[in-house]
Amino acid sequence: MTLSLRGVTKTIPLGDGRHVDLIRNLDFDLGPGDSVSVVGRSGSGKSSLLNILGLLDQPTSGSVELDGQSLLGLPDRKLSTIRGRHISFIFQQFHLLPRRTALENVWTPLAHIRDREMWRQRRELAAEALARVGLAGKEDAVPETLSGGEQQRVAIARALVHRPRYVLADEPTGALDGETAQNIMDLLLDATRSQRAGLVLVTHDIQYATVTDRQFKLDEGKLVPLVAERSSR
Ligand SMILES: Nc1ncnc2c1ncn2[C@@H]1O[C@H](COP(=O)(O)OP(=O)(O)O)[C@@H](O)[C@H]1O
Ligand SMILES: [Mg+2]
Repeated sequence: MTLSLRGVTKTIPLGDGRHVDLIRNLDFDLGPGDSVSVVGRSGSGKSSLLNILGLLDQPTSGSVELDGQSLLGLPDRKLSTIRGRHISFIFQQFHLLPRRTALENVWTPLAHIRDREMWRQRRELAAEALARVGLAGKEDAVPETLSGGEQQRVAIARALVHRPRYVLADEPTGALDGETAQNIMDLLLDATRSQRAGLVLVTHDIQYATVTDRQFKLDEGKLVPLVAERSSR
């Protein structure tokens, strides 16, 4: 199952009556198990790109497709069902539910996908997901008592508990110190790979971009490969 952008343009108003293409006629494919990083200066449109890929925002023109089927014009209700089942986000600021335990935070996606069997097993599934990110024993901890790195681990467990096809991570280590950040990046890559989820990793630390299979810079609305493709010469 491939998530694709076909000729996607996002035009935004500059406020003085002029407009600019934040994303310009972009084609992009994300398949199962793919990992892609996107770097770019602040304001270059990285978050906007993730929002379009994640069906949170609509392109100005062009289409988002799932397995070659355009999602253009589907009602919001349908888009949020697809998103809830197949697409997870990870954010710089974790966005965990305050005062809820790690376990409750992790099982929230299971409440949205209307899979009775998974919902019935939410405790086990959430506990397994926490164990996979190294947080066995922290099931009952609330975010307020966890370090930044631990909170991001909870967010990764939450992102993966329902086995989505795609994970979109927006500067997931932006709020963490260097060593913690490296551990979180390694974990994110391992966890998505082992579930064969496609990963788009937005990062402004170019050092982390190298961990993914493909690397791009978002520049003037285009995704420019960071490293020249290895030639077969
Ligand atoms: N729908 C919109 N309307 C107006 N401006 C927008 C809209 N979406 C994004 N922008 C602007 O586009 C720029 C790029 O935003 P963003 O995607 O957050 O970039 P990045 O994540 O690379 O920092 C920002 O200046 C933002 O304010
Ligand atoms: Mg951003």
